[in-house]
This record gives sequence, structure tokens and C-alpha cells, in this order.
Amino acid sequence: MTQVSTFSLGTFPKQVKIVEVGARDGLQNEKNIVSTSTKIKLIDMLSEAGLPVIEATSFVSPKWVPQMADCAEVLKGIQKFPGINYPVLTPNIKGFQAAVAAGAKEVTIFAAASEQFTKKNTNCSIDECLQRSDDIFRAAQAAGIPVRGYVSCVLGCPYEGKISPAKVVEVAKKIYSMGCYEISLGDTIGVGTPGVMKDMLSAVMHEVPVSALAVHCHDTYGQALANTLMALQMGVSVVDSSVAGLGGCPYARGASGNLATEDLVYMLSGLGIHTGVNLQKLLEAGTFICQALNRKTSSKVAQAACKL
Ligand code: HMG
Ligand code: MG
Repeated sequence: MTQVSTFSLGTFPKQVKIVEVGARDGLQNEKNIVSTSTKIKLIDMLSEAGLPVIEATSFVSPKWVPQMADCAEVLKGIQKFPGINYPVLTPNIKGFQAAVAAGAKEVTIFAAASEQFTKKNTNCSIDECLQRSDDIFRAAQAAGIPVRGYVSCVLGCPYEGKISPAKVVEVAKKIYSMGCYEISLGDTIGVGTPGVMKDMLSAVMHEVPVSALAVHCHDTYGQALANTLMALQMGVSVVDSSVAGLGGCPYARGASGNLATEDLVYMLSGLGIHTGVNLQKLLEAGTFICQALNRKTSSKVAQAACKL
């Protein structure tokens, strides 16, 4: 008799928190400087669309990322909607202090599971990066500021290639024990597939509770939505994405855009998962930024919507 195999899709979360990274991850990768007013308008439109968390900018060295040189003006200029968080990236205590002076109520530290990427991205070793993060934690704790954290290169590195789940676990565990309330696991160059996502997440979930994990998938090989779906099936309920699929990292050769927020919202809505995001207003924000950048959207949903 033929065996019928039953396949379980797992249980999806009832609600997903979307962390919109387009204004930071998306714009940091743009060669031409985008005006401060355009950045502010984009963030205001994303707020109108109901995104609960919007990464606003990065307090990094303007010599390293000139596009983020107007970080203080952007953070001060945006409308702060009640109930929406506007975290900013801070690589060191200098960035933390500048962020707080500009009114930041939440900061994000960024580490990686690759020595070589850490050197290219932040000019230091993983240990030094964690030390800088620890300095930020101490200051943030004293100021009552929550800290989110990234671990980059969790499914591969542009310089080292394959990254072992054990290395991801080591870094994630350290920043969790330092005090990150949430850790976003970044497939920085978008090379992962659902199987390796599953292996990596299973390993990390042994040391960090799944309720404190988020995924951040770049879409270089078209796997971002599939990898995110795998993470949702494993209990992750926080997902980073970028309006119009903008994104990349200037220090990660080959990294292309993030998972498009429009595509994520469409899929989650189809699964009956609540996000609180208004897709129509999100599409308008995507159209606005694509026109400002003079480029085509990478969101399939946005492409389909304009043909309908
Ligand atoms: P460094 O050159 O080693 O730093 O850079 P330094 O301490 O020697 O300082 C050099 C100069 O920078 C000095 O100025 C400092 O004052 C200044 P000078 O005396 O020469 O005039 N400086 C700063 N200025 C403003 N804000 C600061 C700051 N710090 C120093 N915070 C550093 C080290 C970490 C600063 C640099 O490497 C840097 O800024 N890197 C950031 C790179 C970056 O933003 N990458 C993208 C974000 S990560 C990402 O995209 C991945 C993610 O999306 C997840 C994923 O996809 O996996 C998050
Ligand atoms: Mg990224």
C-alpha cells in the first residue's frame, strides 16, 4: 500500500511585528546623497502606514557612510507617532551619545558572526565590537534606553563564505546576556535557503528564547520570503523588511535589497496574520521613495499593483 506522508506546516504566530528598515538599510546603500527632507517624508509616510517599528537612521561615522551624515537632522525632523518606535544604529559610545542628544529613545548595536566582515564593517574584531557594545549597554541601562541587536552574516559571509551555526549562537548568546531585548539575525548577503535557516535558528533557539529573535533577510538569491516563512513556522514573530525592497550594506559586497515590506505584508495578510500595516499606504510610501531615487521597485506586490 502507498504510504501517505502527512506534512505539518507548523503553527504560525497570530501576530507579527514588522521592523521597517528601508530608511536605514535601504538608504545607506544609495551612492547619491538623498536629501534630508526626502528621508523625513519617507519615514513619516511609513508611520502613516502603521509600521510599529521604523529604523530611522544610523549614528555611524560619516566618513564610512556619508549617506547617514544627516542622522541627527533626520531623527529630530520626523514626526514621532505615539506607539511607534524609531530605533537608530549606534556602533560605539560616540554614536550612542549623539543619538541620545538627538532624541533617540531606542538604539541598535550591530555585531556579526564573521571576523572578516566585522573588520570591514566596523574596523575591529568581534571581541572589540562586543566591547564597544558593552559600553553602549552600560550607558543605555543608566539612561533607561532599550537596546536591540543585530548579528550579521548568519547564513554566509561575503569574505569567509560558510558560517557555522555555532558561531552565530556564540555571538547571539553574548549580546543577549549583555541585555539586548531583541536580536535580529541577518542574512546580510541573502545566500541562505530555508534548510540552513532552519538549522541556524534551531541552534540559536537553544540559547536565546524565540520570543527575543527576529529575522532580517536580504533577497539577493530570491530566498528572503521563503527563509522568513521558515522562521515564522519555527515561532519567530518579528521580521525586518524594507519598503520597495531597498537595501544592502556598503561593506558586504554582493548584498542586494531586503525582503520587500509590501511582499511580506501581502503574504502575512493571506495567512491571516495581523500586522497592523495598511498595504495601500505602504505602497504609496514605496512609490514615493522609488520616484525620489529614480528607480523601479523591487517589490513584486508593488509591481503587480501598478499593473492592475
Ligand atoms: P574607525 O575609523 O575605526 O573609528 O571607524 P575611529 O574611532 O578611529 O574614528 C575615526 C573618525 O570617525 C574620527 O573622526 C571619529 O570621531 C569618527 P576624526 O577624528 O577622524 O574627524 N567617528 C564617528 N563619527 C560619528 N559617529 C560615530 C563615530 N565614531 C567614530 N559613531 C566605526 C569605526 C565603527 C565608527 C566605523 O567603522 C563605522 O562607522 N562603521 C559603520 C558601518 C556601517 O554603518 N555599516 C552598515 C550598517 S550594518 C548593516 O547594514 C547590516 C545590517 O543591516 C544587518 C544585516 O543585514 O546583516 C544591520
Ligand atoms: Mg541589512
